[in-house]
Amino acid sequence: MCGIVGYKGKRQVKNILLEGLKALEYRGYDSSGIAFKNDKEIQVIKSVGKISNLEEKLEKEKLIKCDMGIAHTRWATHGGPNEVNAHPHTSGKVTLVHNGIIENAHELKERLIEDGVEFKSETDTEVACALINSYYDNDMVKAINKACKDIVGSYAFAIMVEGDDKIYGVRKDSPLILGVGEDDLFLASDIAAIIDYTDKYILLDELEIVEISSDGYAITKNGRSVDKKVLTADLSSEARDKCGYDHFMLKEIMEEPVVLKKTLDPYIEDLDKLIDVSKYEEIHIVACGSAYYAGMIGKSLLEEKAGIRVVCDVASEYRYKKIIYDRKTLVILISQSGETADTIAAMRKAKEEKIDTLAIVNVKGSTIARESDMQVFIEAGPEIAVATTKAYILQVAIISLMAYKAAIKKGLEKDKNILKDFDILPRMLKEVLDRREEYLEIANEIYNKEDIFFIGRKIDYSICMEGSLKLKEVSYIHSEAYQAGELKHGTISLIEDDMPVFGILTDKDVREKTISNIEEVKSRGAKIIVITNEACNKYDLEVVVPKISDYCQAVLVVPVLQLIAYEVAKTRGCDIDKPKNLAKSVTVE
Ligand code: G6P
Repeated sequence: MCGIVGYKGKRQVKNILLEGLKALEYRGYDSSGIAFKNDKEIQVIKSVGKISNLEEKLEKEKLIKCDMGIAHTRWATHGGPNEVNAHPHTSGKVTLVHNGIIENAHELKERLIEDGVEFKSETDTEVACALINSYYDNDMVKAINKACKDIVGSYAFAIMVEGDDKIYGVRKDSPLILGVGEDDLFLASDIAAIIDYTDKYILLDELEIVEISSDGYAITKNGRSVDKKVLTADLSSEARDKCGYDHFMLKEIMEEPVVLKKTLDPYIEDLDKLIDVSKYEEIHIVACGSAYYAGMIGKSLLEEKAGIRVVCDVASEYRYKKIIYDRKTLVILISQSGETADTIAAMRKAKEEKIDTLAIVNVKGSTIARESDMQVFIEAGPEIAVATTKAYILQVAIISLMAYKAAIKKGLEKDKNILKDFDILPRMLKEVLDRREEYLEIANEIYNKEDIFFIGRKIDYSICMEGSLKLKEVSYIHSEAYQAGELKHGTISLIEDDMPVFGILTDKDVREKTISNIEEVKSRGAKIIVITNEACNKYDLEVVVPKISDYCQAVLVVPVLQLIAYEVAKTRGCDIDKPKNLAKSVTVE
């Protein structure tokens, strides 16, 4: 989703801002823009499409000499992806870039129009810009404070104003950091944008306003100065490099065994270190996208093995639903980025009800990591490809280990050897990943199809959900995941000759039932591809992964589907790391 970079210092402003934007490309965007500022003027240049288009435009323009600027990648919300709607926006003396959504933009706009303001774009951002400008009377901090009181919604702003020498930043429900270099200062929505120049940064808290000037920086909240800790980022340059792989997606899949070991080892050494969820009578798992599907696997295991009642919901629904909380309810939020707007809202809803919240999260300084009551961190490191792979696998592994611990605590699991399965899981996963040729063969059979189904029961159905999502995200092939037994209640009418149907067969309790459903579609002409932990030897294509305990099995199956999705997308020539319309971190509703 949208990205922000700001810079003030003696280096080449254009290069720093452009490099920053490129580092944020992975978040997903459809237009970009830059504003440079010196004592006399602010120069704004914008472009639709890739950052290379903006770069070409900058080459052609005569750029002003300057020591400061702000830049933005936009993922369209209010108004289509065109040059007028791209950021930065200017109103009167104020120029700004914005991440987030101004929910009362319409109402504010009407008020400003009545006051004689004219608008050029369809964006909510221009409204915010005009609002700040309307309050500006040579004191920008005051103007920002006033505007923030009027604005309903989420925002991270980087702002410049004619007549002073500063960049201002403020945020609410959307991340923004101040980068602290040796002789220069940065603003960014994500550390990735500035890590080449500094690893020192300050996390701005809600409604804190930062002023960046030639003399340094000052942070205030409600007019009072705030002291902030300078943090050090641990983002290695290797994580931002493809390291010889064609795509980040592939690199990140191949990293899974290493990050899995890093995540699990401390708990395998001492399971007491892992949070015990057995004391809760009901658990709500809330997340978005793949994290939600990881939650579905958690639900199966927590219910079946640990006997805990679990509700698993997508955050965008959960946040607006009537939820009946029990005194002994735990809300588990799963999020790679820790910045997904709906998941944050769900967390806050639970907190308002004084319900315990536990986050399974990757990014340590994120909003969800900071605001939840308890945290379990996965050690995925930075994930650059928009479609998650390694973070999903770690989310599954951690929640499965939690289910195992809860089952032991409740006396429902007697097999102490299962921890050994978790221990050997990274090595077994490596073996599964090393069989790429097999998956390429499957990809070659399905890459030119228009519709693909995934069927399975119980935990295998949750695996299907992620397999299907991954395929459609990166290859743009329409696919659907179905509970194998439900297909005959309507959807089976879509099955045609040679249509690929993936059957997932790992749960022994329902294996024979799913096989019957596979037979139903096979007899209607479907091409059957089975992913199983026990050979069937009777279908068109088959991948047999090693058999392991139920708690660990999904971790050996989903990577096969991730690699098939990758190979299909590669053969189709898709933009694998940045699929169209998708964003890495969805910071708006
Ligand atoms: C986006 C990404 C998905 C991700 C989802 C949730 O849609 O493209 O890959 O699963 O957000 O993100 P989170 O950071 O909360 O795990």
